[in-house]
Amino acid sequence: MNTVLELISQKLKSAFTACGYEEKYGNAAVSNRPDLCQYQCNGALAAAKQYHKAPIAIAGEIAEKLNGDELFSKVEAVNPGFLNLNISNKALAEYLNDMARAENLGFEPANCGKTAIVDYGGANVAKPLHVGHLRPAIIGESVKRLLDFDGFEAIGDVHLGDWGLPMGLIITECKKRFPELPYFDESYTGDYPKEPPFTISDLEEIYPFASAYSKEHEDYKEAARTATAELQAGNRGYRALWKHILDVSKTDLKKNYDNLNVHFELWNGESDADHLIMPMVEDLKKRGIAHISEGAVVVDVKEDSDKKEMPPCILVKSDGAAIYASTDLATLVDREAKYKPDKVIYVVDKRQGLHFEQVFRTARKAGIVRPETELFFLGNGTMNGSDGTPFKTRDGGVMRLEYLIRDISDKVLEKMADRDMDEEEAKEISRMVGLAALKYGDLSNQATKDYVFDIERFTSFEGNTGPYILYTMVRIKSILEKLASADGTAIDKIRNDVNFGFIKMGQTEREYGASEIDLMLSLTGFSEAVHRSADEYAPHKICAFVYELADRFNSFYHDHKIVTQEDVNVRNEWVCLIVEVLKALEICMDLLAIKVPDRM
Ligand code: ARG
Repeated sequence: MNTVLELISQKLKSAFTACGYEEKYGNAAVSNRPDLCQYQCNGALAAAKQYHKAPIAIAGEIAEKLNGDELFSKVEAVNPGFLNLNISNKALAEYLNDMARAENLGFEPANCGKTAIVDYGGANVAKPLHVGHLRPAIIGESVKRLLDFDGFEAIGDVHLGDWGLPMGLIITECKKRFPELPYFDESYTGDYPKEPPFTISDLEEIYPFASAYSKEHEDYKEAARTATAELQAGNRGYRALWKHILDVSKTDLKKNYDNLNVHFELWNGESDADHLIMPMVEDLKKRGIAHISEGAVVVDVKEDSDKKEMPPCILVKSDGAAIYASTDLATLVDREAKYKPDKVIYVVDKRQGLHFEQVFRTARKAGIVRPETELFFLGNGTMNGSDGTPFKTRDGGVMRLEYLIRDISDKVLEKMADRDMDEEEAKEISRMVGLAALKYGDLSNQATKDYVFDIERFTSFEGNTGPYILYTMVRIKSILEKLASADGTAIDKIRNDVNFGFIKMGQTEREYGASEIDLMLSLTGFSEAVHRSADEYAPHKICAFVYELADRFNSFYHDHKIVTQEDVNVRNEWVCLIVEVLKALEICMDLLAIKVPDRM
């Protein structure tokens, strides 16, 4: 389906050509003076230079040409040469009817047949999910859904931190605490136990303990380093124990991500790329891309145009250990072999920007990805507390994600205390609304910017918040519910009737109300808003669209008594309109991975 802007531009272009001007001047934009008109075209001002004419004269000719066109209710040339345009009610109603009948309100995916990998999550095994993981998870899930909706085969990869020193530390601590376990008996040749020797709570205590202890005790740290190297070299007992660490931890992480409505297609970890590192390094050395510097294997990635310092990308440290960058590069080797992605997007804390710049440059230099493959670092800003520093618990520690979700849900529950609901339902709904508050509060900010977590504002039922959007959607559902029950039908039937065009707009010859037109105009912008968000990896643009739509719905609702409207044609027009608004909001909330309750 063409967008309204495209339809208007087509008309403008033919008018410009018909009047003897180049068609490139006929581009429409949404008006930046909505008090004067809905759309505008500034082409006459530019054309004036080429054709040595007064802009207002050109604008006048175009306006004349378009007068009487059914698409417009107004085409006006105003000084110094603008064209002010309004779309006719009839055309607007027809456009919305077409949207209602089309799949996904007429949105056409632009990237069918392409593949995108979104690398987000980045949780570390044996450590609880904390607020630092919140933004990548929330933003990444939405970006993945946007790309998927736009036609990509979108693959989310959690890229777990499951390799390296933390694993050695856990193994070392386990060995100290439970030396009798068979994992540490070098002469043991039998099968290892199927049951893990620890629970997730044990692990969450063991790891921080070992990490802190190693900072005080050099010999302990050395033992952990050795254990890490032995694990990576394939020590049978360590591998078996590590497998338990992974299983126990992944089960717990999955549960936590599920609770956030964040789901990964791939549960790969850093360890999955490990076997590819050394062959890759050898290859890069052989081709002269990598070289030895002070005992380490490095790739120079500095470019003449660099304004900042750009240190070489280290692949192997002087002690022979592979590191973070080599893991990310080997992971790209793996992804290229398995998926040939058209783009790989990393949603990771923006403080890792230098690392990704080094990795991307090395990948390009070494031809690990094809030249046309897009590598994009979507570096997210920090969620801060009210003091402007990264959000912490009251006693200054790192907040676990589940506690944050609990706190915000409790806050919503408090606010919903006056609702007529049983306790179970109230709890379930406040959890859903709480999550929406948290996720929307995050997503409505530009991903790269820091923001302040403000529980009062996020959980408010007024303003640009998750609860406000949900509340609006629930309100529309309840209007439809009322109409359905008065009719003896079901809400789904009404929605279907709109879908199939049995209930439609443009049935009456009447003046539309101002808030009604505003709502209709917003709705026509659906496809453009989604395309823009997908193209720019910008969920906050979906939020901006959703907020405008919800806000305009509420003004419309305030001005128009839908349920009690007696003229059935007028009522049906309104039903059609709000069914579409609900549909647009539902699609958008799904793109944000926010669940919507039926009532609240
Ligand atoms: N586990 C890493 C960390 O906690 C984040 C991983 C990000 N993704 C990546 N491909 N490097 O810092």
